Amino acid sequence: SSYGIGAASGPTLSADSAAGAAAGGGGFAPSSLPSPEAIKAELDRYVIGQDDTKRVLSVAMYNHYKRLRIMRDPGTAAAAEGADTNGGEASSDEQEGEQLAQMGSDEEESIDLDKSNIMLLGPTGSGKTLLARTLAKLVDVPFTIADATCLTQAGYVGEDVESILSKLYQNSGGSVESTQVGIVYLDEIDKLARKADAITMTRDVSGEGVQQALLKMLEGSVVNVPERGGRKGPRAEQISIDTTNILFICGGAFTGLTRVVNQRKQDTVIGFDAKMRSKDASAVQLDDSAVGSTPLQVEDLISYGFLPEFVGRFPVLAKLASLEEADLVRVMTQPRNALLKQYRALFAADGVDLGFTNDAVRAIAARAKKANTGARGLRSIVEEVLLDAMFELPSWSARGVQRVVVTRETIEEGRPPELTPPPQEVEEDDEPLRHSA
Ligand SMILES: Nc1ncnc2c1ncn2[C@@H]1O[C@H](COP(=O)(O)OP(=O)(O)OP(=O)(O)O)[C@@H](O)[C@H]1O
Ligand SMILES: [Mg+2]
Repeated sequence: SSYGIGAASGPTLSADSAAGAAAGGGGFAPSSLPSPEAIKAELDRYVIGQDDTKRVLSVAMYNHYKRLRIMRDPGTAAAAEGADTNGGEASSDEQEGEQLAQMGSDEEESIDLDKSNIMLLGPTGSGKTLLARTLAKLVDVPFTIADATCLTQAGYVGEDVESILSKLYQNSGGSVESTQVGIVYLDEIDKLARKADAITMTRDVSGEGVQQALLKMLEGSVVNVPERGGRKGPRAEQISIDTTNILFICGGAFTGLTRVVNQRKQDTVIGFDAKMRSKDASAVQLDDSAVGSTPLQVEDLISYGFLPEFVGRFPVLAKLASLEEADLVRVMTQPRNALLKQYRALFAADGVDLGFTNDAVRAIAARAKKANTGARGLRSIVEEVLLDAMFELPSWSARGVQRVVVTRETIEEGRPPELTPPPQEVEEDDEPLRHSA
């Protein structure tokens, strides 16, 4: 499932733009740019729910590709602009009867398109890392997933922020050019929040210090990166990577952020206005806990422990909702690698067909929902529920059992699953620990 936009392939791009021009298209063949819709459809195959976030990411991916094309072939910028005048965000009724903003003349001068880094906020087990992994499979620019918890300020134990770019460079197959248009997913970004007690420490090595170190890279600068990964050292080969066109996506659970939001609400407005609640453009909803409908604002991230400059480098804040019971049911059953499919395969390998009643699946979802761990909790519940069955599984197949059905009672009352046909009695044999064939 890769789209035809070669990462390491400046030549391919110009080749197909030439083909487009030759065909009288006057630029790129639009069919070769994956539409946001097509990207989202791919995400849908693996990630349940989170529609808004998937839309944000699909648009981001599409725009990233588009920027790359325009960058490589500035001639198309004008064409793209012409085509886009009526598209994009502006709805047609806004345009009727209202004056379009004057933007000055843009003939001849090429427009630099800035990237829009993205920050994903969502509770644990809502699919942030899954989304990143799925995107990584989908896009064909270099992609790397890095973990912010490993990063420390230069000179301290841990990885320098430059190590992120080293990984991207390695994933690009060693091409500086394609590294420079890659995508970085920085996971667990919330762990970089300044610790409340940091003031008493001489230096906040792992939090604010890393934010500082990331600032330049996020915005776009030339960074010297050790070619082999690991630490910068005097003897390591260095390469220069320009990060201007590298797209950064960050994700984090931001536990406790709702508390910060509520604090602000109490501090500022009494009798919070319903109008503000619904349609504030700069506000994002976070349903991290009971306080589901609290809009999040940039200042909340700052109170949470982020530098204003850091937050400012993420024009797009997208929140993921916590998965509801019905979503959890789908998570278990629908995606290609769905959890219950995995266990079915495990049982099938021992010649036994494993089934779950609908009630059983719902009961598992209900338990996971109660535990507040999102989809993350599902596996441990299923594992626990099936432990005894998996313990006896090899003997069952030997005793003629063909089918095991997990019912609601199995989940809620610990009753053993139903076996059909019931296992036949076999004579105990004395041989200890015989390996089944
Ligand atoms: N929306 C979803 N659709 C399908 N599976 C999901 C979804 N959300 C989570 N999962 C599954 O739950 C597990 C945990 O998800 P993931 O790692 O994406 O959570 P996360 O949001 O990154 O949480 P954390 O903040 O704890 O890192 C994965 O196995 C993933 O497959
Ligand atoms: Mg995660």
